[in-house]
Amino acid sequence: MADEQLALVILAAGKGTRMRSSVPKVLHEICGRAIVRHTIALARELGAVRVVVVAGHGIEAVREALADDGVDIVEQREQLGTAHAALQAREALAGHEGPVLVMNGDHPLYRAATLRGLVEAHAGDGADVAILTTEIDDRSGASWMEHYGRIVRGADGRPERIVEERDADAATRAIREVNLGAYVARGPYLFDALSRIGSENAQGEFYLTDLIEVTLAAGGSTTAAHAPDPVETMGINDRAELAIAEREMRARINERWMREGVTLLDPAATYIDVDCEIGPDTVIAPGVSLRRGTRVGARCRIDPGVVVEASRVGDGTWLKPHCWVEHSRIGDDCILGPSAHLRPDVELGDRCRIGNYVELKNSRLGAGTKADHLSYIGDADIGSGVTFACGAITVNYDGRDKHRTTIGDDAFVGCNANLIAPVTIQARAFVAAGSTVTSEVPGGGLAVARAKQRNIEGWRDRKFGPAD
Ligand code: UD1
Ligand code: CA
Repeated sequence: MADEQLALVILAAGKGTRMRSSVPKVLHEICGRAIVRHTIALARELGAVRVVVVAGHGIEAVREALADDGVDIVEQREQLGTAHAALQAREALAGHEGPVLVMNGDHPLYRAATLRGLVEAHAGDGADVAILTTEIDDRSGASWMEHYGRIVRGADGRPERIVEERDADAATRAIREVNLGAYVARGPYLFDALSRIGSENAQGEFYLTDLIEVTLAAGGSTTAAHAPDPVETMGINDRAELAIAEREMRARINERWMREGVTLLDPAATYIDVDCEIGPDTVIAPGVSLRRGTRVGARCRIDPGVVVEASRVGDGTWLKPHCWVEHSRIGDDCILGPSAHLRPDVELGDRCRIGNYVELKNSRLGAGTKADHLSYIGDADIGSGVTFACGAITVNYDGRDKHRTTIGDDAFVGCNANLIAPVTIQARAFVAAGSTVTSEVPGGGLAVARAKQRNIEGWRDRKFGPAD
């Protein structure tokens, strides 16, 4: 394979009726990545020089989802069957002389080694067409394979026909060897053979599986490679299979991180997307979701129910239960939560403390800054060593526009203060508890902006009469 340039054709035009979804089947996600993008990632692993995705149903959504993947998308206007779908790649691969791996777009669990085995079987056997098969193993409980096309072998032991379950008689249905929807042939040969496939079958469709018969009819030869693990061969047709695939992929991802030195207290209940990274000696509790390219450092502690999306977490940071963090960056040795809420574009320096029911948005906080309880900090630039006491908030929205709050190093904002933006609190300044601050507070000064206390003696008895 190293000496021959490989191309992939991914069939993804079907509607996926059994998903009962307005989203095309191949865009449903498994561990944070669309089904078809798992196959594209495999193509990269196999070193494919060209990847052509055949789309039809929901093609606009497919185009959008694959915009950054460097693939060609060709349209199959009418879904006339898998052979017709593969034929749509003909123009895109004109001039490609090397092997072409055609794959169903709904098999996201393959490992690269299995497909490499198929490509090598094609090259090694000198056959015109190679297919990937496995045996339905009664012990594997892989019920989805019950509906796969059956492999009929000839007297010479080579694949002679693939019979769809719908077209099979009882004897053929009893065959345990099944077709996994992955085929290799050289480009020119493939498209020539595909154009000779007809649609005389139970569904009236152009079946890609007929590649075998068409090849033998023209005096060509076939071969098969074996996929050892039934689980990785699974195709997704409905939501129950989607869930099985998700569980399998999750187990792989989690096993990888455990081998890299991450402790998962309950791997079956830990949800890490394919594109996340985690440093060693981090301990992750059950019910945690790390999503979309999140990077967590080393020696972190991530408690139950934490969700981190598209964010970075530094080393040694502790996220207590039920924190929500999105599109943000957290420094080293911070402590957040329980129930801290970081909306997009928050940057926390090292050693920050963000306590319970504190919400942050579009703000930068310097090292060692604290907001321990019940605060809202939005659109703020805050220095280091600042204390935001209980209930203090930035008033960033005047009903029409958003404004910024600026706070210098080592300032202290007392409980329940309202900082009406735009406003600046200079370094080392104090804001007295309960103040509503509307103008700049000078460095090292104190702002008191609240009514002076007045006590009215005997008020209660005069109002309601003396106590009984
Ligand atoms: C197919 C195989 C079957 C194999 C099984 C493995 C055929 C005829 N049968 O059956 O032998 O055991 O896969 O999963 O190929 N697609 C198109 N355009 C079409 C029709 C399908 O792009 O006109 C795409 C679908 O989006 C899907 C893939 O081809 O990604 C497979 O189609 P599907 O209808 O799921 O085939 P199966 O019935 O599962
Ligand atoms: Ca299928």
